Amino acid sequence: ASNNKFFVGGNWKCNGTKDSITKLVSDLNSAKLEADVDVVVSPPFVYIDQVKNSLTDRIEISAQNSWVGKGGAFTGEISVEQLKDLGCKWVILGHSERRHVIGEDDQFIGKKAAYALSEGLGVIACIGEKLEEREEGKTFDVCFKQLKAFADAVPSWENIVIAYEPVWAIGTGKVATPLQAQEVHAAVRDWLKTNVSADVASATRIIYGGSVNGGNCAELAKQEDIDGFLVGGASLKGPEFATIVNSVT
Ligand code: G3P
Repeated sequence: ASNNKFFVGGNWKCNGTKDSITKLVSDLNSAKLEADVDVVVSPPFVYIDQVKNSLTDRIEISAQNSWVGKGGAFTGEISVEQLKDLGCKWVILGHSERRHVIGEDDQFIGKKAAYALSEGLGVIACIGEKLEEREEGKTFDVCFKQLKAFADAVPSWENIVIAYEPVWAIGTGKVATPLQAQEVHAAVRDWLKTNVSADVASATRIIYGGSVNGGNCAELAKQEDIDGFLVGGASLKGPEFATIVNSVT
């Protein structure tokens, strides 16, 4: 990890019921979490209120998506204003499942990020290559293009955490090796230095996501440019998520 404050997010995706979330929240409330780590969980929209009302304030809440502008006649969408009303501090944008399953493109995601930031939400900005792109040697090209779309859209990087999530590692059990992850994280930091500023490059947290679990987090956390994690499956288990939070070095 760099000198930046470690950041660990749990992305619950489209999982859970009122009952399973009651249990997860109670496990999180009783977990011992290292003090010097920002900890965030991201429940499905419909459970945000339940989580906000039962979870310790030690852990902040993120949404998994937000509408691109002010709310109104947008059937099925959730606005940034509504998320703030429920007590959310963060929103995950550009997740690969939204890019590749739902079809959101770089520009749309950039606009969402700019709008969320303008309303005071922090943005967990996701980037990452697919397997075939890695095999074709295009990992950096893909990540930089996604990064540039965020950079072109946002006025400031103060409230952004970048999540590098190689698509081939998400939900597959195939975690990137510490060196594979470190290589991309270092390149992302370098891109920020060249294209945004040296200050933004050193102050921006770059977290890794993709099959992180209680067993592999410690080695990843040792890498110089890995400032935390965005955890999917393993964040549905309170004690394991706590182990990942506590892997800060
Ligand atoms: O956003 C987190 C994520 O996509 C990683 O999921 O299940 O591989 O940890 P998972």
